[in-house]
Amino acid sequence: MRHKGVTPDMERQKSRAVSLGEFELLSSFIYRKTGIRLESQKLYFLTTRVNKRMDIVQAESVADYIRILRFGDPDGREFQNLINLLTVNETYFFRDFPQLQAFAEHCLDEVITRKIKEGNRKLKIWSAPCSSGEEPYTLAVILHAMIDNVDDWEVEILASDIDQNILKLAEGAVYDNRRVRDVPPEYLSRFFQRRRDGKYLVNPEIRRMVTFEHLNLSDAMVIRKRKGFDFIFCRNLLIYFDDISRKNLVDQFYIALNPGGYIFLGSSESISRISTAFRVKRKGGYFVYYK
Ligand SMILES: C[S@@+](CC[C@H](N)C(=O)[O-])C[C@H]1O[C@@H](n2cnc3c(N)ncnc32)[C@H](O)[C@@H]1O
Repeated sequence: MRHKGVTPDMERQKSRAVSLGEFELLSSFIYRKTGIRLESQKLYFLTTRVNKRMDIVQAESVADYIRILRFGDPDGREFQNLINLLTVNETYFFRDFPQLQAFAEHCLDEVITRKIKEGNRKLKIWSAPCSSGEEPYTLAVILHAMIDNVDDWEVEILASDIDQNILKLAEGAVYDNRRVRDVPPEYLSRFFQRRRDGKYLVNPEIRRMVTFEHLNLSDAMVIRKRKGFDFIFCRNLLIYFDDISRKNLVDQFYIALNPGGYIFLGSSESISRISTAFRVKRKGGYFVYYK
């Protein structure tokens, strides 16, 4: 027998679909708190993530879930759970090799030489955002490989991300074949342990150099406290931000860098379109931006 009119099942489906109005509400809420701009083609993506959270918190409708986010989440825990599902965490070791080569062979060498002359053996690097840790561990491997007696240096690699789940993975430091495919073989055998299950564990001397922190990069108050960096890597984040949040963040990074310090963005992100504060030069056939 065919049902006539609206069935309870159809009602339920309707209340689980994020309407255009709800999408507007949710996406501007997310944007204000994180800087992440969700375009309208992300409606299905947002719906599936919101539905997942609705099942867990037992919200009866999307409207009900939005009410929880706005009025029933004083410590922001539910908002954080939603954000953990919305972030795009794609990353791998030695991503954008030519850029890392410019960093390793030219910029790092210049900063190290200057610091040795000044009698200053501190080096501070920020991997923001770090996702599951491949980027900050890559930087630590490069420091080990490039600096003579790296243990004589006080090295601090701050690795931060907004996604708490991905930070747990980063701290575990275990990676499958796909993630390490671009690690030069001599570094793979020197800085990783191959485990029985075929996965790779990053060696303790590399792990020790990296400190993970849960940070929201669009929270200017939090970012303002970070200072004195020689290098900031902010790769493959700004593509998810709009022009205003990009500029705000890059302005903060400028303040956080030491004079002569370098900033590296992802290959599809251009500093010169965002800020005129940085100076640019060619290093090893690569354009690099510095303060
Ligand atoms: C594509 S990954 C980039 C990882 C690495 N930098 C790379 O290039 O391989 C982007 C990361 O940005 C993080 N993210 C997004 N919005 C953020 C925010 N407001 N504050 C901090 N991290 C954020 C996501 O959780 C995600 O792990």
